[in-house]
Amino acid sequence: MYRTHTCGEVTDKNDGENVILAGWVHRRRDHGGVIFIDLRDRYGVTQIVSDPIGYSEAHDILNDVRSEFVLQVTGIVRKRPDGNDNPNMATGKIEVVITKIEILNASKTPPFEIDQEKDVNEELRLTYRYLDLRRDRLKNNMMLRHKVIKHMRDYFEKENFVEVETPILIKGTPEGSREYLVPSRLYHGNFYVLPQSPQQLKQLLMVAGFDRYFQIARCFRDEDQRGDRQPEFTQLDIEMSFIDENDIMSLNEKLMIELVEKFVPNKKILKKPFPVMTYEEAMNTYGVDKPDIRYDIPLSDVTNLVSDSEFGVFKDAVKNGGIVKALRVEGGSKFTRKEIDEFTEVAKIYGAKGLSYIIIDKEPKSSIVKFFKKEELDAIFERCGAKDGDAVFFAADKFKIACESLGHVRISVAQKMGLIDENVFAFLWVKDFPMFEYDEENKTLAAVHHPFTSPKDSDDFDKNPKDSLAKAYDIVLNGTEIGGGSIRIHDRKVQKKVFDILQIEDEDSERRFGHMLRAFEYGAPPHGGIAWGIDRLIMIFANEPNIREVIAFPKDQKAKDLMLGAPSEMPKKQTEELGIKVVLEKKD
Ligand code: AMO
Ligand code: AMP
Repeated sequence: MYRTHTCGEVTDKNDGENVILAGWVHRRRDHGGVIFIDLRDRYGVTQIVSDPIGYSEAHDILNDVRSEFVLQVTGIVRKRPDGNDNPNMATGKIEVVITKIEILNASKTPPFEIDQEKDVNEELRLTYRYLDLRRDRLKNNMMLRHKVIKHMRDYFEKENFVEVETPILIKGTPEGSREYLVPSRLYHGNFYVLPQSPQQLKQLLMVAGFDRYFQIARCFRDEDQRGDRQPEFTQLDIEMSFIDENDIMSLNEKLMIELVEKFVPNKKILKKPFPVMTYEEAMNTYGVDKPDIRYDIPLSDVTNLVSDSEFGVFKDAVKNGGIVKALRVEGGSKFTRKEIDEFTEVAKIYGAKGLSYIIIDKEPKSSIVKFFKKEELDAIFERCGAKDGDAVFFAADKFKIACESLGHVRISVAQKMGLIDENVFAFLWVKDFPMFEYDEENKTLAAVHHPFTSPKDSDDFDKNPKDSLAKAYDIVLNGTEIGGGSIRIHDRKVQKKVFDILQIEDEDSERRFGHMLRAFEYGAPPHGGIAWGIDRLIMIFANEPNIREVIAFPKDQKAKDLMLGAPSEMPKKQTEELGIKVVLEKKD
């Protein structure tokens, strides 16, 4: 027997018992003759003592022991002497006096300290991920993740769902991102594709009559990395038949509330039921389609108030079909020039050509004030509620750029002014997204959600398909999109029309989606679904700054696995088997 107890288990109830423990040397302290070891495993830490008078051989062995050695210790549990208790540890009232000790394995000096939570360079942490996972931060995150996913599975089991695994080697799913390709050995020049999500397969499961499906599904997207994006990530994927938007939203909302109450009980849910907002409302009021509503600084639209002003930037934007948005910041007259420059840089990231502002310090002040009549200024301030001591920022551009750039200035302002209540979880649903948006790069319309999303109103879709809204919804938590889904098209004619608008030719749609179109001819039920980004949800639950902290073996920000050294070159024999000749082009 390797052990009778774990290192988190022995308490004063075991006083006097003989126990065997196994684990890693967390810390070693030599108190002139008496050596203390904190022995650690997944469950906790137990203090081990060698008393040279009792067992001197142990003492000799412990002289050689260093951090992260693996030990097996047999000993007798005893209460710590008065005043030596550690109330912060479950095992803090006892220690184990060694009667026998064996070194099961030695360890090199780790590249960073396991027993301390201080910051370590991330590259090093990712390279030695197995050591980083020994530390409390990652260990606790992995435990939280495990428990949340277990709760999800139990929830769906109770709700009559079936978990079905879908393949990883599939044919391309058109969901907007670049796909990872896997070359076929048997069919040279042909490729499997790693799924961006199980989207088509879960819809086919509805055609198959499964009615209620879920899966903890791995998804792959070859996109630029950011803090909340990974090339492979995990979704809670759901699809249901004979339901409408509200059924999906309420079922998911109930689960979300259960999870928060169970796993992050210290956070207060801002509003229950979760607010529901249209895409247009979200963009107009908060400037983004995933608003953080923990702070209430809305944007205003001042287009009609400035369209006749003398300020060329605003007048021209309106003339070109654009709008002018304003953001009033209470107490913003205190912003320094440097801070305003920082906000301007933020606006530029989101496509704005600049950021105008007026400071109200008794009088309206700024370089643009001279272009406005007093009545115009009064009307602007009234519309956005600005008064003495405030600042007002303006963005003039096409709807999306004006909203998004000022929306992100709003977020920066809230951060800078400390307006974010960290004790709150602000959930909301955003729905009624447009069906299509213009893709500047390809000069075509593209699906905002994906091409299987149903239009909201079939009459509207008949009359004015390009401008119609979709039965799509996102769930947002504290300004992060944590899930999204839609009601799907189950009518072949509507699907065909969507493909037409997306300029997917018949031949092309047959080649790419023939399997879907065919399946829809055999009695597809009305259906819809949603997928949550599990990594993002756990990141917020664990109060981590990025999703790498909640994934056991993540890629770095350049899509590399630093521990494995992937991606890597492959032996020529293997690429030849695949019919592939690697021609290396020099990249700048
Ligand atoms: P969508 O593309 O919106 O929808 O993805 C659902 C959720 O997955 C998370 N997510 C990501 N998380 C980490 N890294 C990424 N690269 C990444 N990309 C997305 C987000 C997002 O809200 N098949 C549809 C769902 C449906 O219609 O049912 C889909 O995949 O939190
Ligand atoms: P300019 O005419 O380029 O010197 O700009 C005058 C002021 O308007 C500067 O403060 C710019 O930052 C600002 N500005 C320029 N473009 C925009 C825009 N699209 N929206 C809001 N302000 C802008």
